[in-house]
Amino acid sequence: MVALTIDRLVNGQCNLCQRAFQMSEFKCQVLMSHMMLPPNANPDGHIHGGDIMKYIDDAASVVAMKHARTTVVTASIDRLDFHLPVYIGNLLVLKASLNATGRTSMEIGVRVEAEDLRTGVVSHIASAYLTFVALDDNKRPTGVPHYEPDCEAAIRRRRKAQERKECYFRNKES
Ligand SMILES: CC(C)(COP(=O)(O)OP(=O)(O)OC[C@H]1O[C@@H](n2cnc3c(N)ncnc32)[C@H](O)[C@@H]1OP(=O)(O)O)[C@@H](O)C(=O)NCCC(=O)NCCS
Repeated sequence: MVALTIDRLVNGQCNLCQRAFQMSEFKCQVLMSHMMLPPNANPDGHIHGGDIMKYIDDAASVVAMKHARTTVVTASIDRLDFHLPVYIGNLLVLKASLNATGRTSMEIGVRVEAEDLRTGVVSHIASAYLTFVALDDNKRPTGVPHYEPDCEAAIRRRRKAQERKECYFRNKES
């Protein structure tokens, strides 16, 4: 099985707002694709949700590591809804982007799509938000470079990520 990992893809355009991107932005997004094969599926040909979750975690961790350039661990995965099934033979495409940075944490958003390779029809399967924490050599949280988005869509994503972080702390305290 597997895969193709490409940095910040198509035609030098931002996945969020389609403007031309700068070389310095390459580390903020990755696209990974995986052909769905029988070992990923149940006897009816439906792909296991757990397999898709692993691919989401993998894609997000690549973005986090490329930003932090150190070991990262998954601290949390936000709510995950599967809108449509994925079947054997579909190409699973994961678009992962850095949404926001804290002091030691990073929120990564992942959009999951499935392409029916016979028809070319692309469906939105799921979206997820993951928080990764960068670790130093002693496995303690360590600082990450600040990320400053510079297009409207990315600024909106960062604001939403900050709201989710505030919500996490409110729930933790209550
Ligand atoms: C994630 C982990 C490193 C956090 O350690 P910690 O001692 O609680 O660290 P801190 O309290 O200093 O928090 C560090 C950062 O993580 C964030 N964080 C911690 N737990 C979080 C959670 N559940 N959800 C979202 N963010 C979280 C904090 O907000 C903080 O962010 P900031 O520095 O950007 O403000 C630790 O809980 C851990 O190692 N968990 C296991 C991770 C793991 O094994 N994952 C699966 C395999 S990769």
